[in-house]
Amino acid sequence: MGDTVGILFVCLGNICRSPTAEAVFRARAERAGLLSRLHVDSCGTGDWHVGRKPDGRAIEAAAMRGYDLSGLRARQLADDDFHRFDLILAMDRSNLAHVRARASHDARAQQRLFLGFHPNPPVAEVPDPYHGGADGFRQVLDLVEAASDGLLEHVSRMLDVSPA
Ligand code: 4NP
Repeated sequence: MGDTVGILFVCLGNICRSPTAEAVFRARAERAGLLSRLHVDSCGTGDWHVGRKPDGRAIEAAAMRGYDLSGLRARQLADDDFHRFDLILAMDRSNLAHVRARASHDARAQQRLFLGFHPNPPVAEVPDPYHGGADGFRQVLDLVEAASDGLLEHVSRMLDVSPA
């Protein structure tokens, strides 16, 4: 397929789940030597946190596993995202429904649930950790790490390269 693949992770606020997915997937793609062929970003379907850093609890939980979320800033899903990305990956069904309702008929991007790439998903959706405790943020990381590995294999096939 093409020379680069664009991947956009989507949640509700773009301060917990999707920035975590962006940072984890980017780290794994870099380790596999594929980052230069990818365009990786995240956004929210809601606008409450636009311009803000990720939630402090998400930054802290990710830092414990070696991922740096501190430079990310929230933005909202935009119409041109449907043409700029190949894959729009939603964290849950509600956000996927929002994405699909907004998609134009000529959208380039495929719209799917992110955990569809998890090799052995214990749940179908990445649970919203915003109103819970630190455990929820660790669960997000567990799900996102496993799904990122599956996504990396899928993207390697799209780019016609073997994963490292
Ligand atoms: P996220 O989590 O969608 O994973 O970023 C949330 C962040 C904020 C809110 C809800 C979920 N909120 O209601 O403000």
